[in-house]
Amino acid sequence: MLRLSSLRLCAVPGSRLAAPVRLAALALWAVALAAPAGALEGPTLNQELDQALNLTPNLENGRALYQNCVGCHGESGWGSTDGVYPQIAGQHRNVIVKQLVDIRFKLRDNPVMLPFVERDVLGGPQALVDIAGYVSSLPMNPNPGVGPGTDLARGEELFDRKCAVCHLNDGEGEDEILFPKITGQHYVYMLRELNWMKEGKRRNALRGMVNRIKRMTAADLEAVADYVSRRKPAPPRTARGR
Ligand code: HEC
Ligand code: HEC
Repeated sequence: MLRLSSLRLCAVPGSRLAAPVRLAALALWAVALAAPAGALEGPTLNQELDQALNLTPNLENGRALYQNCVGCHGESGWGSTDGVYPQIAGQHRNVIVKQLVDIRFKLRDNPVMLPFVERDVLGGPQALVDIAGYVSSLPMNPNPGVGPGTDLARGEELFDRKCAVCHLNDGEGEDEILFPKITGQHYVYMLRELNWMKEGKRRNALRGMVNRIKRMTAADLEAVADYVSRRKPAPPRTARGR
């Protein structure tokens, strides 16, 4: 069972990350999670996240609730290749839960989506985990939006040196400790998030990542986002290529 408190204090058994890296990562979450904005009434961010992470998803209910999301992310969950809407299909369940909670509590600004994830519209922690379970079960787009393809060798080198320590060598992240899969995400979306994290506009980011990208140039960020967008997710996770 995954508990937020265990994320703060100790390593999660069975993780694919090497123990020292995992411990360092968890220590970094402790900083991030210690200071979220709380709601005036109802559960705090940490309470809602902790509850949702420990519930079992009902995928049928998730499929029904997902109708709230199709207007922007599409029936497939593939978002838009121009990067306005991210691909959410195939993302790790716990990562999706965290993003929904962060957006709901305005720790991650997303004014267009906010009305669709408010508690009185969507429901409490069970609804969040149901939707997240359903979305994470959807196959990913085999042809995401990619970058110009002009600096891929540099992108690969940067990825290996600065990103793989957390997002892992295949860019698949780690569900247990809420590290997102970035492989096959739309280029323009990723670049926007990287810039927002660098500027401090995306406040739910992990400090360890922000520190690394702060020292990267605009060209570096473009190269690494381009490289990652072109990486293919593991075959069972993608829909059949077109
Ligand atoms: C009105 C459009 C809109 C609707 C409806 C909407 N979203 Fe989003 N969503 C967005 C946009 C835009 C972003 C990216 C914001 C940004 O650039 O940071 C996003 C981001 C996300 C993310 C974060 C993705 C990531 O990789 O971190 C998740 C998860 C998500 N949406 C899930 C949902 C779910 C589940 C629903 C339905 C309950 C939903 N969205 C409804 C527009 C929408
Ligand atoms: C210290 C660990 C760490 C390092 C190093 C790191 N990341 Fe991350 N990254 C994370 C975590 C954790 C998140 C999720 C933050 C959150 O909860 O919103 C994230 C989020 C992201 C996102 C947003 C994903 C989404 O769907 O919105 C992108 C894109 C990303 N990272 C790319 C990179 C790239 C490219 C590098 C290397 C230049 C990198 N990261 C280095 C831990 C890391």
